Amino acid sequence: MALRNIIKEGDETLTKKSRPVTEFDKKLKILVKDMKDTLKKADGLGLAAPQIGILRRLVIVLDDDGKTMLALINPEIIDTKGEQEATEGCLSVPGVFGKTHRPAEVTVRAFNEKGEEIILTRKGITAVCFCHEIDHLNGILFREHVEEYIDPED
Ligand code: CO
Repeated sequence: MALRNIIKEGDETLTKKSRPVTEFDKKLKILVKDMKDTLKKADGLGLAAPQIGILRRLVIVLDDDGKTMLALINPEIIDTKGEQEATEGCLSVPGVFGKTHRPAEVTVRAFNEKGEEIILTRKGITAVCFCHEIDHLNGILFREHVEEYIDPED
């Protein structure tokens, strides 16, 4: 198991746009494994490659069952439905939480680590997570969506 360091807000890597993954090789499989290990250890819901300093279009999202970690490579949102209010935080912005609005349902087209196309539709927090993590690939932090910050002490 190899844990990667999660970079924090203020590091300009987080503001950059990531490039597509082009090689579905052993190196990618190691990266996916390391990101899953890092996400599990951090007890988060999602992790994008730029958060560990790698500007490639790859995210890990914890699925609805709370156990399965989805690796989404070169993900694209191809459909959304409705709207939901969410409470978001980010492993790169520790201790900060805010209310946002995101689509109620999100369909993503991506590739798995074997290079196979996958299409996934999710609601609730997993849909929020799809949006949040894909934003990271475009250099966008959740702060840009926050309508009101929440004091976690309340
Ligand atoms: Co984040």
